[in-house]
Amino acid sequence: MIVNTARFVISNSDVTKCPTDNLHEYAFIGRSNVGKSSLINMLTNRKDLAKTSATPGKTLLINHFLVNDSWYIVDLPGYGFARRNKEGRAEISRIIKSYILNRKQMTNLFLLIDSRHSPQKIDLEFMEWLGENEVPFSIVFTKLDKLTSSAAKKAIENYLSVLLEQWEALPPIFKTSSEDKRGRDELLSYIEEMNKLPLAEK
Ligand code: GTP
Ligand code: MG
Repeated sequence: MIVNTARFVISNSDVTKCPTDNLHEYAFIGRSNVGKSSLINMLTNRKDLAKTSATPGKTLLINHFLVNDSWYIVDLPGYGFARRNKEGRAEISRIIKSYILNRKQMTNLFLLIDSRHSPQKIDLEFMEWLGENEVPFSIVFTKLDKLTSSAAKKAIENYLSVLLEQWEALPPIFKTSSEDKRGRDELLSYIEEMNKLPLAEK
């Protein structure tokens, strides 16, 4: 897919105030600082469409971006940000979960995992929650430019073997870097295929 246009539409904390047109949308989620906003900029070929920061916790709201006037990318706040207080984390969790469970236009959730880290409890528990709620998701390994190819291979194999202790089958897996754009074509082709399907009922 060629991305011709991408523009910011709306930010809010309430799923009922998200855009009402019936277009496919794809949300990006993961721990704070995993690279969600950077990946969105990489996919859309834009430097500052989604706000990025070296300080975790930059994205606090549900942000909709319209691509090619025909589908949405959604940037969600990161979960598990330790420096936010308990109430703040609970509020983010409430926003994320209500969006995921209620947004019928959300065709697929991309769960981002930093390829440098061993499997973290918070991500594994989040995947379990997705499974229990039958939320369609894919895993996107990020920041692969920070590992040598052999270290990356080893890290991802290890991650998948841990997942297979919990899951019978693995979701689709993407290996990406927002720095060198690897994985971009694969992700966009995947989205292009899903855009052809009718919107699921929820
Ligand atoms: P929050 O909105 O705070 O939850 O973070 P986020 O997941 O949106 O992460 P963001 O895209 O803001 O990136 C966090 C930091 O990681 C920034 O300093 C980025 O430059 C860096 N980063 C993101 N993706 C990559 C990547 O693929 N490679 C490298 N080397 N750095 C990356
Ligand atoms: Mg962000």
